[in-house]
Amino acid sequence: MRQSLVVGNWKMNGSTASIQALLEGLKQGMGKIQRAAVGVCPPFVYLQQVSTLLAGSQISWGAQNVSHEAPGAFTGEVAANMLGDFKCKYVIVGHSERRSLYGESDELVAKKCAVVQAAGMIPILCVGELLQEREAGQTETVVKRQLDAVIRMNGVDSLANAVIAYEPVWAIGTGKSATSQQAQDVHAFIRQQIAQHSANVAQKVQILYGGSVKGSNAEELFAMSDIDGGLIGGAALKADEFLTICQAAK
Ligand code: 13P
Repeated sequence: MRQSLVVGNWKMNGSTASIQALLEGLKQGMGKIQRAAVGVCPPFVYLQQVSTLLAGSQISWGAQNVSHEAPGAFTGEVAANMLGDFKCKYVIVGHSERRSLYGESDELVAKKCAVVQAAGMIPILCVGELLQEREAGQTETVVKRQLDAVIRMNGVDSLANAVIAYEPVWAIGTGKSATSQQAQDVHAFIRQQIAQHSANVAQKVQILYGGSVKGSNAEELFAMSDIDGGLIGGAALKADEFLTICQAAK
């Protein structure tokens, strides 16, 4: 059975003070979390603080992005080995905000997955369709294209050491989550696509749902057979709300 995983993607939010308060709240509430593994992904500059505060706790941490390049003259970028230095377990790769606002292509995202794994961390590979793609009936085509780029470049076995996050772009930050059935259908499709290359990897890989997950809808989403947890944006910034989501994991 796959272990449930709930990861907070803090995006470009937080301050030294707010992060300290949030992590204290989370650490205090972790005793109630029986089933899910839990992680948080702060902005890069807070990784030092987060790693210090979470060392020895049950909560893992990760980054929200990484350069596909090795260290060198790339002003403003952060290399995978640097994230390894801060003992990141996860790196979010290919979030829709990176794809749409910063022009990250499927190939670039696949390269980023490879450098994260080469540095000993686990990529959280984000896939998902835009509203107009869903309305045009292209959800499966888009998700398959995003997934295939990684399988083509890195091989299906690379997914045995990855987490996939299905995040329909129209559900992100809109308050309008996919229904549990809409999400389950795409999760099952993703697993089926991977199974065409390796049944073993397909059974093993955790597929998280992201997009307006809240304390009030998490249980219904997480109850679906192919939904193994969540990648949480806004609701991960409040300790109580995030803990309620973590508790909803199966
Ligand atoms: P929200 O939970 O704020 O909709 O964001 C989801 C997300 O993008 C997580 O990566």
